[in-house]
Amino acid sequence: MSVSFTHTKHHAKWSDKQTEALAKLAKEFTLSTAQLEHLTSAFLDQMQSGLAGDHKSSDLAMIPTFVAGRPDGHERGSYLALDLGGTNLRVCLITLKGNHELESHSRAFKVSDHLQEAHISELMDFIAISIKEFITSEHISSKIVEHPSGSDTLELGFTFSFPVTQTAIDAGMLLRWTKGFSCPGAVGNDIVQLLQEALNRNEVNVHVAALVNDTVGTLLAHSYKHPNTFIGAIFGTGTNGAYVEATRSIKTMSHPTAKEMIVNIEWGNFDKDKRVLPVTPFDNKLDRESINPGVHVFEKMISGMYLGEITRNILLHLIDHRLLFDGTSSQKLNTHWAFETKFMSQIESDTSATLIPIAQILEQELGIYLNTQVDREIVKAVCQMVGKRAARLSAMATAAVVRRGLSVEGHFAGHGYPLKLSEGDHVFGARTGVHKNETATEGVHERTDSAVDHGGNLQQINVGIDGSVFEHYPHFKERMFEGLTELLGPRAKELVALGIATDGSGVGAALAALIATKHCR
Ligand code: GLC
Repeated sequence: MSVSFTHTKHHAKWSDKQTEALAKLAKEFTLSTAQLEHLTSAFLDQMQSGLAGDHKSSDLAMIPTFVAGRPDGHERGSYLALDLGGTNLRVCLITLKGNHELESHSRAFKVSDHLQEAHISELMDFIAISIKEFITSEHISSKIVEHPSGSDTLELGFTFSFPVTQTAIDAGMLLRWTKGFSCPGAVGNDIVQLLQEALNRNEVNVHVAALVNDTVGTLLAHSYKHPNTFIGAIFGTGTNGAYVEATRSIKTMSHPTAKEMIVNIEWGNFDKDKRVLPVTPFDNKLDRESINPGVHVFEKMISGMYLGEITRNILLHLIDHRLLFDGTSSQKLNTHWAFETKFMSQIESDTSATLIPIAQILEQELGIYLNTQVDREIVKAVCQMVGKRAARLSAMATAAVVRRGLSVEGHFAGHGYPLKLSEGDHVFGARTGVHKNETATEGVHERTDSAVDHGGNLQQINVGIDGSVFEHYPHFKERMFEGLTELLGPRAKELVALGIATDGSGVGAALAALIATKHCR
């Protein structure tokens, strides 16, 4: 007999208890359209209070980034770029060639577990020495990289993918660590200054011109190729978004001079007190046992660092109820964080009838040698629930930002637009023909693009996305679009384009350095 459960057709026979347990889990992990709607309005409220600086009623930091311009693809120059956000540090040389073309050359340095917890000066020394090595091995000099005239100091943009409150494009204080980092001496201090001091200490002739979050870098990088980009998002080890806001709405800034500014939402921290998020006991367990309990709860339901651990918690629950692997676990499966999100990707990719590839993962990666077809079907169903919920929550955050941009207070359209597009509303699939009103400056343009063209028609909004979950997790994009369609209407695909911003962090850092040097010097 075949039992149909969630997305998979089951070929083996599940016991009643197994079917019942999985149905109960599915109920906890499934997010209805009504729930998504409810979350979207809470998200929009928190965006609004965050922009007003009311951090009692908002968990969204809504950080003004001091990046007021967006590139249009004509910018030129070579910059050093640095990307730190996880277990790899990347040092890059980015050459912007104009005409939306660029060249990138990079080298990765592993940030060891020790360095992720070491004193910040040790981490910064490691970064400075890595930059030195890159410059030396690649023979990079002021002949190649932009530098202030009359000096041989090289300009560098730094993508630092943690929450930082910025006071200028080249100054920002770390609010808290996320994603497993916990280096003492950093929180409350200026990250640019810490790096500049380490560069000076190690005699590396480099000037840190700009500091950006990875979401901001991704938005800038995507904008270089696709002008109508208003949102940058990361769905990787962590998750977050940045978007273009009207500066008049950023009440936390006293005297804004530019018309628009990119705001780093820090959406990973949405609803940290779990007032609206439908957290399950499995999420609570993960949060409690994490290095940063009580914060970034939304991120813990979505991103690559955590999805595997939620799945592991569920599998152990089923094992403890003797509904999986005949009640037997393994040392590996009992180990905190041992079930990696990449296993979920591999498991969800297995569409064979017998699910033998899943058996191989269970055996080789997790030491589970005795597994039946029913076991494998259950493991796959669990991955599907967790993966689908993550994609739908990601869609919710994206839809909320799109709605804000198109609403009366928002900036993309400049005036109210229907929040759900019905069949009759006109959307132009525009990658070109953006309605622009540019004030040319030396490098990047201060722009007042609108998502509405001269005829009042809505143009397609480009969202630049980076991150392994979005790129590699099976069905993630389609699942996101299902959620987006429920929240933005049947024409969501015409209204919003989700595009991969290749090397958003590296290219974005270089563009930020360009913005900083062309505007500030
Ligand atoms: C975490 C960080 C945030 C970053 C995101 C994606 O949420 O706090 O700054 O953008 O991860 O890397």
